[in-house]
Amino acid sequence: MAYSAKIGPSILSSDLSCLGSECVRMMECGADYLHLDVMDGHFVPNLTFGHPMVECLRKSVGQDPFFDMHMMVSRPEQWVKPMAAAGANQYTFHLEATTNPGSLIKDIRESGMKVGLAIKPGTTVEELAPWANQIDMALVMTVEPGFGGQKFMEDMMPKVSWLRSQFPSLDIEVDGGVGPDTIHKCAEAGANMIVSGSAVIGSDDPRSVIALLRTVVAEAIQKRSLDR
Ligand code: DX5
Ligand code: ZN
Repeated sequence: MAYSAKIGPSILSSDLSCLGSECVRMMECGADYLHLDVMDGHFVPNLTFGHPMVECLRKSVGQDPFFDMHMMVSRPEQWVKPMAAAGANQYTFHLEATTNPGSLIKDIRESGMKVGLAIKPGTTVEELAPWANQIDMALVMTVEPGFGGQKFMEDMMPKVSWLRSQFPSLDIEVDGGVGPDTIHKCAEAGANMIVSGSAVIGSDDPRSVIALLRTVVAEAIQKRSLDR
């Protein structure tokens, strides 16, 4: 089985004035990667940061941490090169934001980044499927994108299960309302890349929360491999 359990804290709910040290803290607490939420105030009704911030962050945290850029922007084509130059490792764009996913996937690869493809709750998994063999990761949103701290949408789990059954070695990420109370559903459905914002950042003991999330997912992966 090609995929493994990976936990990526979303730093959206951290103290943004201390982003560098917050990222370092998350890596020291056992994070496998960092999920960075880029919002343009247009694709979603909220505004965060862009590539200049990512460039500073890369300088501050060093080359090691893997940056998964969650691009909640209306024109994802526009930011591929600047994000690659700033030090992003993976460019996760929304299917709803582009009319030409194929050429965007190609551009992202040519820029040296991995490709993530995200779908909002209202988008069906069948719309993502034609691209699944060309991407590194599928992101199934478990809230409407835009804000941290929202309620997990359990009714998104059939999308994850279907993707896992169709694409057994694809990295599948879930994002939104995921924490110790909801991780079992995600793990059972077949997600292996877990974004968690408020549940990790807001915890007094992020190390334990990250470890717990990873254990639940790793156990589900192991069970699935035994069942095959
Ligand atoms: C929401 C973002 C998420 C968010 C997750 O649009 O994409 O990454 O920060 O935060 P929680 O885990 O608090 O829902
Ligand atoms: Zn996100």
